[in-house]
Amino acid sequence: MQDRTRPHPEIAETGGAAARPDARKLYVKSYGCQMNVYDSQRMADALAREGFAEQSGPEGADVVILNTCHIREKAAEKVYSELGRLRKLKSAAEREGRRMIIAVAGCVAQAEGEEIIRRAPVVDLVVGPQSYHRLPDLLARAERTPGVVDTSFPVEDKFDALPPASDAATRRRGVSAFLTVQEGCDKFCTFCVVPYTRGAEVSRPVTAIVAEAQRLARAGVREITLIGQNVNAYHGEGPDGRSWSLARLMARLAEIPGVARLRYTTSHPRDMSDDLIAAHRDLPMLMPYLHLPVQSGSDRVLAAMNRRHTRADYLRLVERLRAARPALALSSDFIVGFPGESDADFRDTLALVEEVGFAGAFSFKYSPRPGTPAATMEAQVPEEVKIERLAALQAVIDRHQAAFNRACLGRVFDVLLEKPGRHPGQLTGRSPYLQPVNVDAPADRIGEIVSVRITDVGPNSLFGALESPRRESPLYERAESLAAGA
Ligand code: SAH
Ligand code: SF4
Ligand code: F3S
Repeated sequence: MQDRTRPHPEIAETGGAAARPDARKLYVKSYGCQMNVYDSQRMADALAREGFAEQSGPEGADVVILNTCHIREKAAEKVYSELGRLRKLKSAAEREGRRMIIAVAGCVAQAEGEEIIRRAPVVDLVVGPQSYHRLPDLLARAERTPGVVDTSFPVEDKFDALPPASDAATRRRGVSAFLTVQEGCDKFCTFCVVPYTRGAEVSRPVTAIVAEAQRLARAGVREITLIGQNVNAYHGEGPDGRSWSLARLMARLAEIPGVARLRYTTSHPRDMSDDLIAAHRDLPMLMPYLHLPVQSGSDRVLAAMNRRHTRADYLRLVERLRAARPALALSSDFIVGFPGESDADFRDTLALVEEVGFAGAFSFKYSPRPGTPAATMEAQVPEEVKIERLAALQAVIDRHQAAFNRACLGRVFDVLLEKPGRHPGQLTGRSPYLQPVNVDAPADRIGEIVSVRITDVGPNSLFGALESPRRESPLYERAESLAAGA
């Protein structure tokens, strides 16, 4: 159950739409974090209004967009190998007298700009994350003259300028949706490219977020995950002209009929404010599962990372969160082999994992990123040591994760039924802890939250049986009538 908190860190495709025969064909591939998944969907939505139909592969596409990630070297390099494959498809298209426009978007686009075209001349357009609302225009320009680069940080709000998805497109994407509320980061952890690729922290206004959540709910979405690179630093303008916190925003979203579950990710420990901790106590629809990256258990390393919190701060925070919501489970991110990390520092990280008992966590080998302070720090850790530490850390994380999952056996969970399962007659849903749960249930119950007793725990998912045949109401009836009117 590694990828429970997000489609991280590899690839998530945005999925194909039903094509009109005359539609131009679009393929979007997302790398990296949930924000890229969300952005890919918004790009596809904007281009749908220009007559593009999204498809699930690059073959025969008129436009291919790679929405890239720059977080680690491996992530960035993946883009170039994909461009190598696309070069062949593009040449084949040209032999048939067709054009294939290739665009590179996302954080590699922002970080490398024109360099991408120098290295991969097959690319027609490079577009940074703050310019997606100009995409139709940029594509038209790239079609006339290949080699267009737009990595500016314009003043206008791209979210307001990007047209929303149609209800039908939203419905096809399912009952759980991402909603970006905040973008960018002012924290400048010394290892991280995000403040450079996504820019300064910007919060969307409350009314725009509420309107988007209402649209999602109207299209049958039951669970909304609020996303931002530093989501709990949210401080958007409220309808009263004041700055609203994430907790206050969630309390407002909780009033929207149809929305049954809220989550938010990713948070920084420094921004876990009192009212946000209280929200975990007071807001039942806020799911009891929190991704709270700590990166290291050593104060020395945390200071060198510029995390601006100590190990003790983090542990105290976990205690307060668990006091507010005893059922809360936590996940985290770790970096091993940060410059100067000693064996003793690493042991502090292992000890922290033992102490907190995470339900899951992502761990990464430190990857030097050009332009970040840590890349030029002395005492870079040798690759063999990183490999060793990563394996040791992952073993401890896996043990805790397996214990957490085993402890679910026999428990009854609310499960949001999301999609057909692997076997006929089976549906897959998510527990409050984001675990996939397989259960025998008819397809017309997708979108319902049902009581499921966990009867088996597999390596990647849980299995369970419906506790009661009763249908959810009145939300279910609402979903039904909405679907009928669709
Ligand atoms: N906004 C997110 C950052 C996304 S990056 C957040 O603050 O959580 C997700 C994770 O990638 C980070 O938490 C960190 O653990 C890891 N990461 C970031 N930069 C890295 C680097 N240079 N090398 C290795 N891992 C890195
Ligand atoms: Fe990167 Fe740190 Fe900001 Fe997270 S908080 S995005 S790790 S700089
Ligand atoms: Fe990657 Fe950019 Fe997200 S670097 S993790 S796609 S913010």
